[in-house]
Amino acid sequence: MNRLDKPHFNKKGGKNMVSNVLIIGSGGREHALAWKLAQSSRIGKLYIAPGNGGTRQIAENVAIDATDIDGLVQFAEKNEVGLTVVGPDDPLALGVVDAFQARGLRIFGPTRAAAEIESSKAFAKNLMNEAGIPTATFKIFSEYDKALAYVREHGAPIVIKASGLALGKGVYVCKTLAQAEAALAEIMLENVHKEAGKEVVVEEFLDGQEISIHAFCDGKNHVLLPPAQDHKPIRNGDKGKNTGGMGTIAPLSWVSADALRDIDERIVCSTLQALAKRGRQFTGLLYPGLKMTTSGPKVLEFNARFGDPETQSYMRLLKTDLLDILEACVDGTLADLAIEWHSGFAVCVVIASGGYPDEYKKGLPIRGVAEAGRVSDVVVFHAGTTFDGELKTSGGRALGVTAIGNTLRDALDRAYEAAHLIEFEGKQYRSDIGAKAIAMGF
Ligand code: AMP
Ligand code: GLY
Repeated sequence: MNRLDKPHFNKKGGKNMVSNVLIIGSGGREHALAWKLAQSSRIGKLYIAPGNGGTRQIAENVAIDATDIDGLVQFAEKNEVGLTVVGPDDPLALGVVDAFQARGLRIFGPTRAAAEIESSKAFAKNLMNEAGIPTATFKIFSEYDKALAYVREHGAPIVIKASGLALGKGVYVCKTLAQAEAALAEIMLENVHKEAGKEVVVEEFLDGQEISIHAFCDGKNHVLLPPAQDHKPIRNGDKGKNTGGMGTIAPLSWVSADALRDIDERIVCSTLQALAKRGRQFTGLLYPGLKMTTSGPKVLEFNARFGDPETQSYMRLLKTDLLDILEACVDGTLADLAIEWHSGFAVCVVIASGGYPDEYKKGLPIRGVAEAGRVSDVVVFHAGTTFDGELKTSGGRALGVTAIGNTLRDALDRAYEAAHLIEFEGKQYRSDIGAKAIAMGF
């Protein structure tokens, strides 16, 4: 059945009620959310603003920018949208949730105040410090001279971060003092991140494996998703510049139930309590990025949204109806819902444009996506693509090839078989997604 033809309903939603849903965003994360929501038995019309070249096949792309808050509110009202789901961070930081709530519209995501846990690294670090949440030792600066003196005193390795939202490019992991000095100059003297670099966080370098934790939160209760691992640097072996994320695997067999319980108690619960104590109850998806150090898990950063490309793997593993989960978060009824996952593993391999994360060409014809999607247990999610009669690249991370398997190896083999079939000029992908877990024997 064509889901767009179904009748539409009811602003309040609720159990057994068909609901029109609006997803905000245009990336692979949003395509994956749309793919899963389209399978809900209660989905009415599914809209995505603005969407991409792939989402148009399962939802109606709506030409409203993700940061056009007034435009989104008006659209939701006019089209009887029962639930809006926020993908990216910038609308959250602009107060999209507050704006929808003020009009009595249901929306999945934290308020602007709660989303500060992501939009201000300085706020997040201070909160962690006050609440005793394990993280790298740090100091916050707004004056270049003082930051430089501190960096010279501490030496390398050291990490320098623009405090605000900087498209994932505001973090400098510096192996040498010269790199650290250059990073400070770039942020504080050349103002390359503009407002986002007004404050700078200088912090201790943490060693260990990086993992992504996700928690569905309803303001009172929360439920953890399985742990996942992203691969941030552009090149194999974690070399080269940081990107938005080049691939994910989930779950991580090497993270024990005890370790997860510890992360839940000392990091997730403590953070949600600390936010609530400050009148910033968190509803939506809380995603701490952690380093598993020899002295335990430590927080690298908080995100107030689903990870991208973690979500692409998660949606392949999730058994429960996503609409039920998102509505339970908004309605504060998460405790009444059992969330189930398929056994086995899911992976996502990102196919990026040549040159990304620096300059790259756009508008290049893409071939082989349908063939890739026919590989057993593979689903290809679009991110930076457009369709104008022909599928073309339009962003740095163009596609996310996902696969599931009974073993991690099976899932990876399928994803790479499919990734190989996709062609566009200059395409690049990491060929070592999941290699660390495989080397550890999982
Ligand atoms: P963030 O946006 O804060 O997660 O930083 C981007 C990436 O930089 C992280 O995924 C880590 O790989 C790396 N990173 C950030 N902070 C640190 C740190 N204190 N020590 C080591 N690596 C870090
Ligand atoms: N997985 C990286 C991010 O979503 O920020």
